[in-house]
Amino acid sequence: MNFKETLQKKTKEAEEIVLQYLPKEEGFAAQMAQALNYNMTAPGKRLRPVLMMEAYRMYQGEGTLVHPFMAAMEMIHTHSLIHDDLPALDNDDYRRGRKTTHKVYGEAMAVLCGDTLLNYAYETAFLAFDMDREGKRTARALQILGKKAGLYGMLGGQSVDVMNDGKPLSRQMLDYIYENKTSALIEGSLMIGAVLANASAEEVDRMEQAGRYLGLAFQIQDDILDVTGTKEELGKPIRSDEKNEKTTYVSLEGIEKAREEAEKLTGKAQKLLTGNHFLQELLAYLMNRKK
Ligand code: IPE
Ligand code: IPE
Ligand code: MG
Ligand code: MG
Ligand code: MG
Repeated sequence: MNFKETLQKKTKEAEEIVLQYLPKEEGFAAQMAQALNYNMTAPGKRLRPVLMMEAYRMYQGEGTLVHPFMAAMEMIHTHSLIHDDLPALDNDDYRRGRKTTHKVYGEAMAVLCGDTLLNYAYETAFLAFDMDREGKRTARALQILGKKAGLYGMLGGQSVDVMNDGKPLSRQMLDYIYENKTSALIEGSLMIGAVLANASAEEVDRMEQAGRYLGLAFQIQDDILDVTGTKEELGKPIRSDEKNEKTTYVSLEGIEKAREEAEKLTGKAQKLLTGNHFLQELLAYLMNRKK
């Protein structure tokens, strides 16, 4: 199997695991479950669950303990997209090739759908206690999940990002934003996979570092695609950053320098992942992604 076939296989596997945890659309709140599933079943890349599954296997994790965490991480990520697209934030109409939640269900439901999905992520992750009698690994993984999603992770980054629309940013502040809004969930994915497989503290730290570099490279690439990509391929609007007057690596340094920076960061992440050929290839592949 070549790399692309392997990636497709792993993505499908991760997606099937994630989709197993979705709620039934029934009862008085059926429409909320429907809005949640509308977002979760849309064709995302499933990068974070793939990374988590891969880290789990890399450290000889066995069985299905990682499954609820894979689903939870993809739910938290998807919640961040629902809220990121709201009129009060980036105000975008398309996501994963579909109309955004507020366009289909209205703004009030979109706000609640993001909240519900974030909460449902933890409900899902807590299921891991039923599979882990001792509970220590699950507890540690939950600490990481909570931290990387919150004030000291993705949401902290998103808050500084939206507060600075239309303002010039120092490189230091831009790094803070990217490391949090984007790297944090990627770090968490790699770390949780490792923790659940009983990797050492040192190995978990290495996963965090690799995730940080990968996340930075991934966000720079996202900013480049916002300028050079197409709505059809990306499944989301282009020129969103320009519309929102965002300072990005691209607006700060230009496309060429941004690309060079992303390549450099990818190299650093790859170096930390020696021993996992698939992850190294995945990082190279992401550098040339079109969506
Ligand atoms: C989009 O993430 C938001 C960023 C952090 C850049 P992805 O590019 O992983 O989005 P999906 O999950 O494939 O839709
Ligand atoms: C958002 O960055 C990262 C999130 C935490 C959602 P962007 O606002 O650039 O993400 P896209 O381009 O809308 O996917
Ligand atoms: Mg945004
Ligand atoms: Mg956005
Ligand atoms: Mg973007």
